[in-house]
Amino acid sequence: MAEPVLVCVAWPYGNADIHVGNMTGSHLPADIVARYHRMRGRQVLMVSGTDAHGTPITVRADAENATPLDIYQRFHHRFLDLFQKTGITYDLFTSTHTENHFDVAQKLFTVLKENGYLYTDTQKQWYSPAQGKFLPDRYVEGTCYICGYDNARSDQCDKCGSLLEADKLIDPRSKVDGSTPELRDTEHFFLDLGALEGEVADFLRQRESYWRPNVIRQSLGQIENNPLRGRAITRDLEWGIPVPLEGWDGKRLYVWFEAVIGYLSAAVEYAKLTGQPDAWREWWTNPASKTYYFIGKDNIPFHAIIWPAELLGAGTDFDALMGAADPQPLVLPYDVPANEFMNMEGQKISGSRNWGVWVLDYLERYDPDPLRYYLTMTMPETKDTDWAWEDFYNRNNGELIATWGNLANRVLGFAHKRWNGVIPEPGELTALDSELLAAIEAGFGTVGELIEGVKLRAALAECIRLASEVNKYLDVTEPWKVVKTDETAAARAIFTAMRAIDSLKVLFAPFLPFSSEKLHGFLHYEQPLFGSGFTQEAADTLGSHSVLRYDPAAAAGQWQPSALQAGRAFNKPEPLFVKLDESIVAAELARLGK
Ligand code: MF3
Ligand code: ZN
Repeated sequence: MAEPVLVCVAWPYGNADIHVGNMTGSHLPADIVARYHRMRGRQVLMVSGTDAHGTPITVRADAENATPLDIYQRFHHRFLDLFQKTGITYDLFTSTHTENHFDVAQKLFTVLKENGYLYTDTQKQWYSPAQGKFLPDRYVEGTCYICGYDNARSDQCDKCGSLLEADKLIDPRSKVDGSTPELRDTEHFFLDLGALEGEVADFLRQRESYWRPNVIRQSLGQIENNPLRGRAITRDLEWGIPVPLEGWDGKRLYVWFEAVIGYLSAAVEYAKLTGQPDAWREWWTNPASKTYYFIGKDNIPFHAIIWPAELLGAGTDFDALMGAADPQPLVLPYDVPANEFMNMEGQKISGSRNWGVWVLDYLERYDPDPLRYYLTMTMPETKDTDWAWEDFYNRNNGELIATWGNLANRVLGFAHKRWNGVIPEPGELTALDSELLAAIEAGFGTVGELIEGVKLRAALAECIRLASEVNKYLDVTEPWKVVKTDETAAARAIFTAMRAIDSLKVLFAPFLPFSSEKLHGFLHYEQPLFGSGFTQEAADTLGSHSVLRYDPAAAAGQWQPSALQAGRAFNKPEPLFVKLDESIVAAELARLGK
């Protein structure tokens, strides 16, 4: 059996469109890693879905006088469209509003309760006397009691990343009407994080050496400074997953408690959809399975503390409840490569201020690969980065096209014309030719290792560096000139360059799948590199929506150097990318009102 790789991506709230910051933060890095592992022949499952519950959805529904069901479904369908257009290859993109997810989430709740990791307690929660209801989480904003940020939500501070205890929030105000809420007692279930702290800390220490420092700081670092305390995992809300017990009507599971369970429930749903209902265990109970979580930094505590705590607390009992004869523990996260944030033109991206680049809007004017290129080169892996249209323009024309697009185009174009669409016979290769091919071949190791370590900026920069090696080689060998005097030498250089380009096509493919597929077609391969592979189908659902599924046509085993042979026919190439006019910079800034 091929090594299983589970690629988990933070479930986007179904209350807003996806912008470039979300793309570079989670969906795109996940897709690059998933495509790469598929090309290595590994058994990849990439999952996510629309996060349909909790106050992010109900706050928007209240504001629009719509139902939460309508809100999440509207955005869910836009997500499906966006992922197909940008080539984000989810094996399953579903939602948390399905029968399957309700069932898996309630099962995990039950298992944690039976294992003694849940308890009930009375806590003080903000309450609106005017509305006659509790105001959980995002319904209340105020000042963070840890860092002093004055726009913190009652459950989490976006400035310092801390999880907050709602009743400690300073100067609370209701998001609904700005009024000051009051504290009232309410009964909830709590996850006993204190009892799981030792195991969570051990889990983190085992990964300390290779995780991103910011992720370790915000998980292990926080635990070492402040012992973990029980955290409420139910809310006074009507929208969401019911507590699977008598007498708990009117309360729902906390959105963060259940949404992270989506990584598990999506694998279960996928297994059912493919007609092999036990297949989820391949990724979830096989100790050889590697699980990656692609998230933004605001999600770190939920993925590096709370989710591992839920998995540890479940022990082997979830598998047992699912009917395993020999129940196994659930696999803990292998890596949580959280990204920092991407701003735009120096300011924080914001839906409410309409400040950002929305991906569906971008796609009305430009192609997906230049977006993927720019977002990988500026990926906020270690610090916040900035989307700037001028930089986008410069990198498209000056790097992507100047170094890679033009290289492929001029070599294939010249070869096609001069040798009538047949790869020329090179004769015996010189040391210079072999050195170039060896350098490119080594890229399969170096680029692959960088991708496995989720150092994607460095990985793509290495691909560009290798492409510039081919340009240098052509500057020296000058086949377009030499052909007039020494056809054999020209043929040898063109053959060598074509092999190098054919290999570069593969190295670039996880990053730039559309242009690599195009080039693959020019080179006249019978099987596609990836194929288009997307299908939508009706979900096992409580509302009515479809899920997106990607079925790779041919990716397995492609991660290897070119074996292109002389004498083979190929097609007349077209440019891989569109050269942009400088005027787009001013035009885009004008659209922003700048
Ligand atoms: N919806 C959350 C956000 O956008 C992410 C949820 S990730 C999950 O920040 F794992 F909990 F689903
Ligand atoms: Zn704070």
